[in-house]
Formats: sequence, structure tokens, C-alpha cells
Amino acid sequence: MAKSVIAKAVGLGINFIDTAAVYGRGRSEEFVGRAIRELGIREQVFVATKIPGDWHRFDDVLKAARRSKERLGLDVIDLLQLHWPACWHNVPICETMRAMERLVDDGVIRYIGVSNYPLQLLQTARECLKRSDIVSSQNRYNLIEREVEKELLPYLRREGITLIAWSPLAKGAVTSKYSPDNRPRGDLRENDPLFHPDNLREISSKLIPVIKELSAKYGKSPAQIALNWLVMHDNVVPIPGAKSPEQVVENAGATGWRLSDEDFRRLENVSNSLSITYVTW
Ligand SMILES: NC(=O)c1ccc[n+]([C@@H]2O[C@H](COP(=O)([O-])OP(=O)(O)OC[C@H]3O[C@@H](n4cnc5c(N)ncnc54)[C@H](OP(=O)(O)O)[C@@H]3O)[C@@H](O)[C@H]2O)c1
Repeated sequence: MAKSVIAKAVGLGINFIDTAAVYGRGRSEEFVGRAIRELGIREQVFVATKIPGDWHRFDDVLKAARRSKERLGLDVIDLLQLHWPACWHNVPICETMRAMERLVDDGVIRYIGVSNYPLQLLQTARECLKRSDIVSSQNRYNLIEREVEKELLPYLRREGITLIAWSPLAKGAVTSKYSPDNRPRGDLRENDPLFHPDNLREISSKLIPVIKELSAKYGKSPAQIALNWLVMHDNVVPIPGAKSPEQVVENAGATGWRLSDEDFRRLENVSNSLSITYVTW
């Protein structure tokens, strides 16, 4: 399936592939690497991966990057991201960034990115770098979860750092498939706060009706409406996850057209009216 999803994506002109060491404990990187080799598409894709916050000591960063590169089977990792801060490991941020810069100098990686870093830590991380800079920040951003707009996104825009939006479909919550009576089963979403009945009730009673109305108006699917709203933001690149080639085709169809400014604002207003809580127990 990974190979057919990637083949379909590249055929449609999608060239950015995002994976991480922790996805399936290395298996996702292996699948991506194998697909790229078997399809012969190395020159057409930009491959990003991530190393977890538990491996941010100097030597661990070098070791983790080497292992990711091997699993991916690449000449060079295009973008290496620090997946989340070294929360409880107490590694000074400059130690980690020195290792990242070493990887650029040694030709193991091309660019440095961070993910889930608060603004102040991102700023400090940049100050640690002498010869390189951080080119991207990967954060959760979708029609329901918009905290990045408060301080991070304005800073990234000013500094020319790309925001890579993860879970741009709110893990499927904005696609109109789910409701309090029809929650996802058999995967991590069962315990995800966004899919708690209270939150799903809020989403399906306020946001989904507007998405469905716009879906009918533009002749686009709910997923395409939600993704188009995101790509209309300067400096934001969404990375929707796809479980099938059909979903890839649909998600690629979120570009090449635009919601009107009025409809864009309508989505924003209904999104502002949502009352979502992560305190679910
Ligand atoms: N940096 C981080 O900490 C972090 C964290 C999470 C994710 N990510 C990255 O972000 C990517 C996307 O995130 P995500 O997969 O969590 O969330 P997402 O893109 O918001 O949602 C993906 C899910 O939505 C459903 N879907 C996708 N396309 C659809 C379509 N066209 N119509 C209807 N449903 C559709 C699929 O699930 P169903 O069909 O089963 O509903 C799919 O698994 C990941 O692949 C990963 O690379 C990064």
C-alpha cells in the first residue's frame, strides 16, 4: 500500500514525503525508502524524517541520523526534523543544534527543521546555529486546532520559515465521516480527545454543516474544503496522511482553486465558535 500511495502521489505532482524514526519504530522509513528505490523516483522527491526528543544528545543525534539515512537508503536526508523537544532529558538545546549543524557539514542532511517546538525554544535553537538555519517548523494545524496562529505562525512568516501543518484534516475529524454515534474504531483515535463524543458533537453540529454546504457549492469534498482553507494561508504546507491512493487523489485536488474570501472567513468564524477541550476525563 505504501508504494501505491507514493506512486500515485508522485504521479500527481506531490513531491514532499514526511516520515519519522518513531513511525513503526523505523518501519515507515524502510517502506518509504524501498518505495523510492523500486519506483526509481529519488530525483523527484524531497524526503523529510524526524528524530524523537529522546535522542537529542550530541552523539545520539549523529547516530539516529545515520540510522534513519540507512533505513531510507538515501544519499542524503533532505530535511531532518527534531520531532519534539527533549522534554525530560535536560539536554541543552545548543548541544542538539551543534549536532544538527555537524550533520549538514558532513553532508548527511541538507536542511534542519523542528517540530512541536514552542516559539521561544525555536528562537533559542536558531541562535545556537553558526552556519545553518532552521528552514521549517512542523506543527499541528487544522480547522479545529489553530493554536499556531497565536504567536508561532506570525513569527515564521516574518522569518521566512515554512510551517509544515501536521494533521491538517484533524485526523479525519473535518472530513464529515465521524460523529458521536460513529467514532473511529480500532486505532489510536479511540482515545484521542478530538474524537471524544463531547468534542465530536461540537464539531458535527457547528463546523461540519458549513463544510458540507461549501462542499456542495464548490463541487469539492469536505476534505478538499478543509485543506483548501489551510493552503490559502501564506507560508503553510499541509501534509495530509492518506490511507489509500484514492485519498491521495482527493487530497491533491485541494489545490488549483480557491475558496472565496467570504467563504474562507465563514469557515474561520465557525471554527472560532467551537468549544473544544482536551480535558476529557
Ligand atoms: N510532527 C508530529 O508530531 C506529527 C504528528 C502527527 C502527524 N504528523 C504528520 O502529519 C501527517 C498527517 O497527519 P495525520 O495522518 O495524523 O492526520 P490527517 O492528515 O489530519 O488525517 C489523516 C486521516 O484522515 C483520513 N483521510 C485522509 N484523506 C482523506 C480524504 N480525502 N477523505 C476522507 N478521509 C481522509 C484518513 O483516515 P480514515 O480514512 O481512517 O478516517 C487518514 O488517515 C502524518 O502522516 C505525519 O507525517 C506529524
